[in-house]
Amino acid sequence: MSFNALEEKGLPIEKQVRNWHQIIGKPYNKTEVDCYTRTRQILMNGIEIEAWGFKHQLNRFVMDNNDKELIAQISRIEDSQQTSANWMGPADQSVLETTLGYEQVAVDLTAWMAQNEPDEYVKETFDFGLLEDFDHLYRYSQFAYMVEGVEPSDIVQGQTDVIIGRPTQHHHNCNALRIRKHYDKNTAHPQTKVNILTLLSGEQQTHNYYAEHGFMCGDHVLRETYAEIKDVEEEHVTMYESLIDPTETMWEKFLIHEFTEVCNYYTCMEDEVDDRIKKVWELFLDIELGHLKIAADLFKKYEKRDPEEIIGTEIVIPCRFLSQKEYVSKVLEREVNKRLIKDGKYTVINKLPEDWASYKVQEKQNEISSPSENAIRLAGIYHNRDIVDAGKELEEKETEILAKGLQSKGLADNTVMPDELEKMIKKHEKMEKKQEELI
Ligand SMILES: [Fe+2]
Ligand SMILES: [Fe+2]
Ligand SMILES: [Fe+2]
Ligand SMILES: [Fe+2]
Repeated sequence: MSFNALEEKGLPIEKQVRNWHQIIGKPYNKTEVDCYTRTRQILMNGIEIEAWGFKHQLNRFVMDNNDKELIAQISRIEDSQQTSANWMGPADQSVLETTLGYEQVAVDLTAWMAQNEPDEYVKETFDFGLLEDFDHLYRYSQFAYMVEGVEPSDIVQGQTDVIIGRPTQHHHNCNALRIRKHYDKNTAHPQTKVNILTLLSGEQQTHNYYAEHGFMCGDHVLRETYAEIKDVEEEHVTMYESLIDPTETMWEKFLIHEFTEVCNYYTCMEDEVDDRIKKVWELFLDIELGHLKIAADLFKKYEKRDPEEIIGTEIVIPCRFLSQKEYVSKVLEREVNKRLIKDGKYTVINKLPEDWASYKVQEKQNEISSPSENAIRLAGIYHNRDIVDAGKELEEKETEILAKGLQSKGLADNTVMPDELEKMIKKHEKMEKKQEELI
């Protein structure tokens, strides 16, 4: 269907204020909600946080008082949308359960985008980040089981595989290596601009969620794991924002931000299976079309250019949540040994130079131990082996994937090596059999 957001009127800003009852609706039921309703809710919270934060940054540079008032009005509305989206989450959904939701967002969103990204280099970067969040989902799943008795499938509902990825201890890099090559704003497709800003917003909020909630855990190793993974999300923010052309103006960015919100709510509205939540997405699409109109008018006023040059004439689909198991396992088997090097390039472990800048970072950060490795060790005690929830074919390759993903240098002393993992798996099989005989 053809939909040119710039031709839509949307809801005028003066009609966008809602009462408390409208802002805070009834939360979803954590055991009944479709996992992709939860991922949409988590993502849209992140998008609204970015939309709100950006507008405050923008307004600090605006001289004209009428424009300043208008932007302040929009920030206020973004904030109320953030409340609606975040407050859809129920009070009885634990921090760890929500965390599994956050990492499911990262895995399935990044995989969708990688397959719908017109720029090959940006796609490569998405595939790279994908395998890191995939491993985070696995590490947190160990704790969800040990601390709360939650199986990963209780949250991801069998739509996303949970198994070892590129080991988290190797996600810590010299930040200079995280800087990737940026797109050219004059030639980049609007889909590329929207994809990057969507993912960046999600990663930033994931970082903030871990920053604000990791300390609430009683288990010390889990607290350390939140700190470790939070640090990786910080690197992800650096990596994804570096893909953006730094010569984009603030007015251009304003336009892209509102267009990104429009595209995301449009997709949410199309895909939502919960009728009550679908109505919220419909209203929010209308609200964002109102914001886009204002952003387009200000862009024309200050830049004397046509907004179509920046965002095109067609809606794009940034966040179609679908099971991506097949795609993710292909990337995993192919690229678990991939690493970042200088000048925005990539290589594989056995081609890394002796003086690779990230070795120093990893050796320092993991010098006592890597918390995310202890996650597997503890699961070995609680459950005889690690917690996995994946197709049989992928599960059988777990040790092989680990062997391919581990570096020999920059390795924490407490690393669970492939032969040790294999022993755990065998022990678990033996214990399961024994248990069956006893019954
Ligand atoms: Fe918004
Ligand atoms: Fe992550
Ligand atoms: Fe991430
Ligand atoms: Fe907006």
